[in-house]
Amino acid sequence: MGSLENKIAVITGGTSGIGYATALKMAEEGAVVYACARHGRKFETSAVRYHYLDVTDAGSCMNLYEDVMAEQGKIDILVADAGITRDALTKNMTDEAFSDVIDTNLKGVFQIVRLIGPYMETQGHGSIIAVGSVVGEYGNIGQANYAASKAGVIAMCKSWAKEFARKGSQVRVNAIAPGYIMTDMLKTVPEHLLEKFAGMTMLKRLGKPEEIAEVITFLASDAASYITGTVIDVNGGMRL
Ligand code: NAI
Repeated sequence: MGSLENKIAVITGGTSGIGYATALKMAEEGAVVYACARHGRKFETSAVRYHYLDVTDAGSCMNLYEDVMAEQGKIDILVADAGITRDALTKNMTDEAFSDVIDTNLKGVFQIVRLIGPYMETQGHGSIIAVGSVVGEYGNIGQANYAASKAGVIAMCKSWAKEFARKGSQVRVNAIAPGYIMTDMLKTVPEHLLEKFAGMTMLKRLGKPEEIAEVITFLASDAASYITGTVIDVNGGMRL
């Protein structure tokens, strides 16, 4: 029996990279998964279904929440994974690049959690996992906007872990902080920088989306029933 039998999971950004790998892993563990993003994708298993979502649009977040509740009657797991980069040195960073990243990575997480978090509190249980980043912990050149958004995600998770459990509900909220993982997000990063980042890890390589999906799935499961309010580094031993 899988570790997520009878669980309903919502994954923002579930059509690509880390979110996609997590959707497949959670389905393999027995969950029914809603993989949500602005662009659809076919899934090999009927346990994963696509739902349109733009995390920057409060109405779209509400539609998703209402549709999943109407179809399944509950939500056990939320993975807040949707995220973007708009890198530039600070002197060159446009208002738009700054706002786009904050709106998607920070406010986007807030907009979905403010619906599903309080619901889980009423339900009495749930697991929320938000995807932060090693950059949110250590900072990075050309990523002031992204670093701020991810540090904010980590801080929101720590706040929500306290807030949603304050009356005794078993709602757990954790962040994971991946290092550099081979997904579409790294397509814009020059090869020499990727080699440099790989060299900065203890394992001397970049990560795979499946290696992040394993940890998210563990945090979602009852095996992690006493883990909350924390950040788990999954970065091959990287120190930026
Ligand atoms: P990706 O580009 O493959 O996936 C991003 C997903 O977010 C896609 O499904 C995309 O459609 C979705 N998305 C973007 N904007 C959205 C919006 N407004 N509404 C709904 N969905 C939206 O990239 P990857 O690498 O899988 O990224 C997933 C998460 O992991 C992001 O939060 C990213 O910041 C984080 N991360 C990635 C790392 C990496 O090295 N790839 C390292 C650390 C964190």
